[in-house]
Amino acid sequence: MTPSDRSPSAALAGDRAHLLHPLHHPSAHEHPRIWVEGRGAIIKDADGREYIDGLAGLWNVQVGHGRRELADAASAQMATLAYASSYAGSTNHRAIELAERLSAIAYSSINAFYFTSGGAEATDTSIKTARFFWKAHGRPDKVKVISRRRAYHGLTLAAMSATGLPAFWPMFEPRVPGFVHIDAPDPYRFTNSDPSLSLGVAAANELEAAILREGADTVAAFIAEPVQGAGGVIIPPPDYFARIREICDRHDVLFISDEVITGFGRTGRWFGLEHYGVEPDIMQFAKGITSGYVPLGGIGVSDRVREAINGAPPGRRWMHAYTYSGHPTCCAVALRNLQIIEDERLVERADVLGAYFRSALEPLGSLDEVGHVRAQGLIGAVEVVADKATKALHPPEAQMTQRLTDALLDRGLYTRVAMDCICLAPPLIVSEEQIDRIAAILADAIPAVRREVGR
Ligand SMILES: Cc1ncc(COP(=O)(O)O)c(C=O)c1O
Repeated sequence: MTPSDRSPSAALAGDRAHLLHPLHHPSAHEHPRIWVEGRGAIIKDADGREYIDGLAGLWNVQVGHGRRELADAASAQMATLAYASSYAGSTNHRAIELAERLSAIAYSSINAFYFTSGGAEATDTSIKTARFFWKAHGRPDKVKVISRRRAYHGLTLAAMSATGLPAFWPMFEPRVPGFVHIDAPDPYRFTNSDPSLSLGVAAANELEAAILREGADTVAAFIAEPVQGAGGVIIPPPDYFARIREICDRHDVLFISDEVITGFGRTGRWFGLEHYGVEPDIMQFAKGITSGYVPLGGIGVSDRVREAINGAPPGRRWMHAYTYSGHPTCCAVALRNLQIIEDERLVERADVLGAYFRSALEPLGSLDEVGHVRAQGLIGAVEVVADKATKALHPPEAQMTQRLTDALLDRGLYTRVAMDCICLAPPLIVSEEQIDRIAAILADAIPAVRREVGR
């Protein structure tokens, strides 16, 4: 008998006895679903109930669940060469092919790639590489990292320190020194105190102010998600990143684009900064590269960063490594996944269907309980507020996160809620009917939760 054959109650007894979960707390695990199956945009629990996967797993299942092609790609590679070291002196065909493939689809100046097992390792790799770059250029004091409030970059110590969500910090402090946060370019909540500037430029200027405050000679990099995902899906104004690029260039600060969520079609482009017409010095990715079927992440570096890595003397080499870097099986699945995205034109689909998605969500903005609705491609959010006029959130005792999550699950929609923003990022193969259903569930659940907590 395999564990999946056990009754839900027996399995949950085992879970409670032996398993610690991400963001663990028993209060969040009183009625957990045991997920047993997925097909397309639908996931099924051990009680046989079906749900729309409104977050594509954790923003990663681009091609949908149950794709036999990906299982076959993993199986064929495992049967041939499941694993081999990628340390300098060793390589493998799948890692080479994947790096070549990424060079073709990534920003034009990014042509060299390093693989990790996930997003947080990618963040650490980017930060270490930025520091390496400046040391290689004889500027060893450029070590600080600037990021945004409400950013999520993962939870290793360095990634946690770059993350701008304070809830992740207190029980693990002290944070790594040298991390600084500026405001998020949130079109709904950013306070622009200079009416002569657009919101995008004013928000980007916060970066320049922080660089000047810290001293440009001490700042290695600015790291930003093109769309801040886990912080509540914040989509910056169209002029934000051009100004960011300009500021980074002016002060010799590397620009790291964290594309862990926005990569591989999510926003209707292969990568999120394409909407803004600028290129980063380092990009990082994970999640959608394999549609989550196996763990894989990584970074891509610009030609000048690669030159710094290749040009260092052996004693000052890029001494960074993971056992699973360039994992042949993970790279094989990524290659097959990218092939599906291309064959099925899922990037274009996310763009075209994104317009449908946005127009399905927009009417929710007229609900008394909804302060803001936003979407770009197939990523979006509906922000629930206690008071539309003041934009005030409900107090913590209202437990809106748990209530909204439960109300949506009860109606057959799985997703996550961050700071009362209902985050949405369905698989890129989601249908128009499923999008209509998502909107209908939200329209029913949000007022129902508000009635529960009272006005
Ligand atoms: C933008 C971004 N960066 C980094 C990470 C961390 O990735 P992982 O959980 O694979 O470490 C995440 C995870 O959600 C993310 O959304």
